[in-house]
Amino acid sequence: MSDQDEQPEHEQHFRVEGMVPTGDAIITARFDRDDSHTYDGYVSSGGYTALRKALTEMSAATVHNEIKLSEIQGRGGAGFPAGIKWGFLPEGVYPRYVVVNGDESEPGTYKDRMLMERDPHQLIEGTVLTCYAVDAAQAFLYVRGEMALAQERLAQALNEAYERNLVGRNVLGSDFSVDITLTWGAGAYIVGEETALIESLEGERGMPRLKPPFFPAVKGLYLQPTIVNNVETLANVPYIVNEGGQTFHDIGAPTSTGMRMFAVSGHVNRPGVFEVPNGVTTFRMLFEAPEYCGGVRDGRAIKAFIPGGASAPWFYEEHLDFPLDKPTVDKAGSMLGSGAIVVMDERTDVVAACWRIVRFFARESCGKCTPCREGTTWLERVLKRILDGAGRAEDLDTLLSVSENISPGLTFPPRQTTICPLGPSAVAPITSAIERFRDEFEHYIDHGVPKDGIDRHPITATGVPVHA
Ligand SMILES: Cc1cc2nc3c(=O)[nH]c(=O)nc-3n(C[C@H](O)[C@H](O)[C@H](O)COP(=O)(O)O)c2cc1C
Ligand code: SF4
Repeated sequence: MSDQDEQPEHEQHFRVEGMVPTGDAIITARFDRDDSHTYDGYVSSGGYTALRKALTEMSAATVHNEIKLSEIQGRGGAGFPAGIKWGFLPEGVYPRYVVVNGDESEPGTYKDRMLMERDPHQLIEGTVLTCYAVDAAQAFLYVRGEMALAQERLAQALNEAYERNLVGRNVLGSDFSVDITLTWGAGAYIVGEETALIESLEGERGMPRLKPPFFPAVKGLYLQPTIVNNVETLANVPYIVNEGGQTFHDIGAPTSTGMRMFAVSGHVNRPGVFEVPNGVTTFRMLFEAPEYCGGVRDGRAIKAFIPGGASAPWFYEEHLDFPLDKPTVDKAGSMLGSGAIVVMDERTDVVAACWRIVRFFARESCGKCTPCREGTTWLERVLKRILDGAGRAEDLDTLLSVSENISPGLTFPPRQTTICPLGPSAVAPITSAIERFRDEFEHYIDHGVPKDGIDRHPITATGVPVHA
């Protein structure tokens, strides 16, 4: 028996040398059509067949069961299996709601926007199917404030869906009725956190709720049972209903099923959103394959990359052959999060990169708890001082001790002294960068400038870097 035969099946897949899994796109399949956002474009390419099928041939429990079989993990960050989450709804408690989280704002994340702009009917069909499966008569689709085109196209698509009785009373002549309400956010990152989003929907300031007892499936919107799911998660539902949960499960790895969207930005030749087989595609394939990112710019080496959004601990050269598989990445001390991958090449000023990320979290802190409100601001200021050439010998200790007050033990997944994970999110880039590139911080503190071979991005008084 060869070594490969002894490996689990999904590991054998990603170890085949030179193999680049491409797979058939599921939820981005219509992206290259000019009319992908219209009702006609959607229906002429198979749209709304899943809804017709479910309402004529499947009970709500059967639809739910297919989602469970698919083992689709939520695509909004935590990766919780959707089928299991839907099962948390307490029996017999009504009204109950479905909330679609389209607030996508993590730096580097832009997959949900693409789905809402390019295929809004797919999301509407997925939302109606979800409501059918969990017996909800009302859904809310919450879209980030800045996404004007997504809002316009979703509104247009929803009107078309109402006109054709795909949403509304007695959908397609069945005894199932559902309304979808569109809501535009005001552009706060923290409102992506599900309980803050619920507060915002209720007309309150978008601040996370203390948990427990407010686990949304049990007590969510208006303190009623509420399912909150990410846009990409629900966009997959029509495919799963049409093809069956097992078909979806057979794609990718058993531990990370289906196709999955990754938004790659930074120093690659072809940044963009790619829908790839989940769990079997490796970071290296994604970065280097011509059908994906086509390599790092100017043929340079990779210095670091963020595997799953700005709040994820950084990965390095030694992680390039890891598959995009949730348990693998979790075990290595980071996360795939919302699928936002940021690549930094060998000339990147990691001190500046770290500061930019921390600045984002400091600005987006809702201010409800002190360690996050005060701590992230301190972190940002100390990093800025170092970048300005006024760093002090004790600054690295200060950064780590403030971080420790936000996230005791500096571990990942983080422990937190805060209400939500935003505070610890600012800690991940600091611990990553200091642990790996301490010499670069020390060089800045000693000389006021980055080490040789690093591209400097001078920062203006407003804090905006000037790119030479
Ligand atoms: C600070 C913060 C921001 C978040 N932003 C988003 C977001 O923009 N979109 C999203 O779907 N989930 C976001 N989440 C995760 C949500 O709280 C929630 O887990 C998710 O919407 C559930 O959907 P899923 O199970 O389909 O992934 C965020 C979480 C935190 C802590
Ligand atoms: S951790 Fe930050 S963003 Fe989260 S509730 Fe506390 S202050 Fe608000």
